[in-house]
Amino acid sequence: MVKSLLFLSLLPAVLAAPFEPRQLDGPKGIDVSNFQGSDINWSSVAANGISFVFIKATEGTTFLDPDFSVNYEGATNAGLIRGGYHFAHPDSSSGADQANYFLAHGGGWSADGITLPGMLDIEYNPDGAECYGLSASGMVSWIEDFSNTYESHTGRYPIIYTTTDWWTTCTGNSAAFADNNPLFIARYASTIGTIPAGWPFATFWQYADSGPNPGDQDVFNGDATGLSKIAKGS
Ligand SMILES: *[C@@H]1O[C@H](CO)[C@@H](O)[C@H](O)[C@H]1NC(C)=O
Repeated sequence: MVKSLLFLSLLPAVLAAPFEPRQLDGPKGIDVSNFQGSDINWSSVAANGISFVFIKATEGTTFLDPDFSVNYEGATNAGLIRGGYHFAHPDSSSGADQANYFLAHGGGWSADGITLPGMLDIEYNPDGAECYGLSASGMVSWIEDFSNTYESHTGRYPIIYTTTDWWTTCTGNSAAFADNNPLFIARYASTIGTIPAGWPFATFWQYADSGPNPGDQDVFNGDATGLSKIAKGS
């Protein structure tokens, strides 16, 4: 991110430091999937002060979230900044194949000011070996393949969502993405804690897995202008 021309203008708006509790004052968001169902009251979510949402679109190359479209349309109509996310299955197909599947099913990006770059949810394997049977270097290569494919189609590098614990274990705490990919850390605590190597700060923090609004509770590290800039890519 630091070296990316697209994001240079963002730096003054985004605090170059890990989150402190006071930074929970930044724009609030949520992330949702079919687990929350298709009847989220988006005008109520907006009225509660939520300004952005990540919506699950795809997993691997075989799963389409059945509620993606209704959630995306509802969030759009309520005036939220929104984007799609992809749950990675690095053991089932290449990063490029999964990026292309995501792009074909809601994960695209355009510079309309209301679309966040796609988010790669890469974390604990729900069905088997924590690191999907990949070595740390194999995992870094898989993520590069996904990230570079996404960038080649959209001009934007995907946001990387993970936990510091998983990233340390499964990528060897790689700093290879810190220059280009915005970081989204999940940690349900009063502070974000240590973040992975290389990144000077996290752009998003998922600080709770439930709360006053549907889904997980998120916050942007900056202000509303910074959030608009990351959507717009300028
Ligand atoms: C959604 O919530 C608003 C209040 O924020 C309420 O007025 C409206 O009736 C709700 N819509 C539905 C379909 O429940």
